[in-house]
Amino acid sequence: MTSLEIKPDKAHIVILSGAGISAESGIKTFRDSDGLWENHRVEDVATPEAWHQDPELVLGFYNARRQQIRKAEPNPAHLALVELEKAFQVTVITQNIDDLHERAGSSTVLHLHGEILKARSTLDARLVYNLGHNDIHAGDICDKGSQLRPHIVWFGEDVPMYPVAHEITQTADLVIVVGTSLQVQPASFLASAAPAHIARIVVDPKAEANVPAFYLRAPAGEALPKLVSYLLEHGISDLSGIGAE
Ligand code: APR
Repeated sequence: MTSLEIKPDKAHIVILSGAGISAESGIKTFRDSDGLWENHRVEDVATPEAWHQDPELVLGFYNARRQQIRKAEPNPAHLALVELEKAFQVTVITQNIDDLHERAGSSTVLHLHGEILKARSTLDARLVYNLGHNDIHAGDICDKGSQLRPHIVWFGEDVPMYPVAHEITQTADLVIVVGTSLQVQPASFLASAAPAHIARIVVDPKAEANVPAFYLRAPAGEALPKLVSYLLEHGISDLSGIGAE
């Protein structure tokens, strides 16, 4: 998505999601595993330097991630966010590269850090291709003849969707942060991009109280279905009954 049509008759809930929302689908988070991502140091697989040094290692790594994600299923947390659309305008801004929000049925999903099911040209970033669950191999080329790479934002690269995400967040009436440590910039700036007067709810079993918000310290698959039922019944103006700390 590149822009958003605001529906004036509905409150707009912006969801900022990260790896923790997919944890209960069997996909590991980043910072819960000794600094390693599926047994690799991030610098060895998720940086432009890694790509220049050993593109086949990087392709193999993301091919494996794609197959892992293919086998995963959306969990009750992803599904709860779809229910929320019954009464609210909902925009999901995710740092995740998986497609579990889409497979659950969320209608508006913006991927800040790219999408594992897409490839793009190494010559022209505008050339993006749907891969489905197919692998990318050395020698697979774009229409301009250059090697394809995963459509992923690596460390040290620009985040082209950030300005769109920032603009959308400014129109929020409620922000729900779920399953992200908010340690990676610029995604971490989004929670404060929302209007100062609106409420923030943080769903994360290990959340630290860094910002003024309602904290639900429980796994997303437990906490989000309950939160969504509450919001559908009571609306967003009185959050005193959501069970937050
Ligand atoms: N429900 C909710 N939150 C959970 C759950 C769960 N079941 N399990 C873990 N968490 C929380 C953790 O407590 C942690 O705070 O999810 C958060 C995951 O944080 P990170 O591993 O840092 O993941 P994320 O914030 O998505 O990482 C951001 O870093 O490596 C990069 O580009 C990568 O998009 C990624 C970015």
